[in-house]
Amino acid sequence: MSKANAKQFLAENHDRFITEMKEFIAIPSVSADSAYKADILKAAQWSADKMKAIGLTNVQIIETKMHPFVYGENLSAGPDKPTVLLYGHYDVQPPDPFNLWKTEPFEATIKDDGYVYGRGTSDMKGQILATFNAIEAVVKSGDLPVNLKFMLEGEEESGGPSMEQFLEDYKEMLACDICLNPDAGMASPTQPSINYALRGIAAFEITVYGPNADVHSGGYGNVIQNPANELARVIGKMIDDEGRVQLPGFYDDVLEMSAEERAELNRLSDGTEDYLAQTGVPKLFGEKGYTPIERAGGRPTLDVNGMISGYTGEGGKTIIPAKASAKITTRLVPNQTPEKTAKQMRAFLEATIRDTVRWELEYTGGATASISDRKSKYVQALSDGLEEEWNTKPIFERSGGSIPVVGEMQKKLGVESVLTGFGLPGDSIHSPNERLHLETWTKGMRALVNTIYNLGA
Ligand code: BES
Ligand code: MN
Repeated sequence: MSKANAKQFLAENHDRFITEMKEFIAIPSVSADSAYKADILKAAQWSADKMKAIGLTNVQIIETKMHPFVYGENLSAGPDKPTVLLYGHYDVQPPDPFNLWKTEPFEATIKDDGYVYGRGTSDMKGQILATFNAIEAVVKSGDLPVNLKFMLEGEEESGGPSMEQFLEDYKEMLACDICLNPDAGMASPTQPSINYALRGIAAFEITVYGPNADVHSGGYGNVIQNPANELARVIGKMIDDEGRVQLPGFYDDVLEMSAEERAELNRLSDGTEDYLAQTGVPKLFGEKGYTPIERAGGRPTLDVNGMISGYTGEGGKTIIPAKASAKITTRLVPNQTPEKTAKQMRAFLEATIRDTVRWELEYTGGATASISDRKSKYVQALSDGLEEEWNTKPIFERSGGSIPVVGEMQKKLGVESVLTGFGLPGDSIHSPNERLHLETWTKGMRALVNTIYNLGA
């Protein structure tokens, strides 16, 4: 009866869970911007306190060169039972542009549409809380059916520069049979999913330098090269008209999807209508020869994330700017590597940027893509746990996003991950008005309870 008790516990404590969601979201733990460092530490502390409250022991906040990890465990099931490592990241993406938020980004606000709005609700404080709540329910309703370890990082949204070292230093503490990672979301409120592939990433900053200082565009236009014009020209050449990335050798190592896999991915839909509705664009764009859903999950990309140059204040200013810079990321698929992509980017810039300007390229970090087993008993345990709650079998999805820890754990610890989550495609993660569907979240906690019992069976 403990499973039923655990679910009853979830129902009885729902209001408290919402209160705690408000507390957690109220901590603006933005990892990218050092102005938020104190809040990062606050979120780590909040998580550690919460771990203790739900029955985890050996709780630790572990410093790194950037932001701390938080760790806790409950090994009371004993050595005969499997050990499940749970993963989460307590950091969030920057909230700006502020003016596009309809509610305060760090005030979790529940609206009539059944969603709670706020930065981190979906990606992924809400998912961490769902996991905390499921654990608490199981721990307080009887014997724990599996050993649990919980690892939280505070720098996933910044590419996780400390992860590799952390996995190396804490290899023994993290020893486990499987990692359950709820950072990947699901297909729709009625369609749970298990994610089996994530893209990798390589991140860059390119700076192009023109005159020593901003100069009069009448005095110097058509005489010297404008670094913003030149950067725009070069960026314009990075992708051709058919959506193919032009870095030399970019597709050499790309693992093609099999015809069978492509058919399975497109089974419910090729994604066109969903992507149009989610983004409001007049027409989709991407690599020719692949459907939107294939392009998002199984093909590599290159995107400008931000560009800075010249005068952007009110009115006009007739100058040639002294410099122009862009932040660019490429999303990678198996078997591309970020290191090789960085070489390709440099080679492309060397061949393309003219000698009328000076330039710098900084490779700011990367992660490899990952593909995981779709048939293991752990996947089955999760699949059954989701099916029991939703009365429908989960679909297997490839995701366009990246979760660096998944590939790192495969490489460093030989640990596989099982990926799911209770965020939805329309949640606006990384965007203004990020949100989380509360009913799906609530069902998710129950599915996690099922999964924990299945893993121990
Ligand atoms: N949860 C996301 C990744 C994700 C999104 C997986 C949607 C599946 C579906 C994760 O928090 C994330 O956004 N990661 C970053 C990592 C990057 C900064 C290295 C990403 O993908 O941009
Ligand atoms: Mn994210």
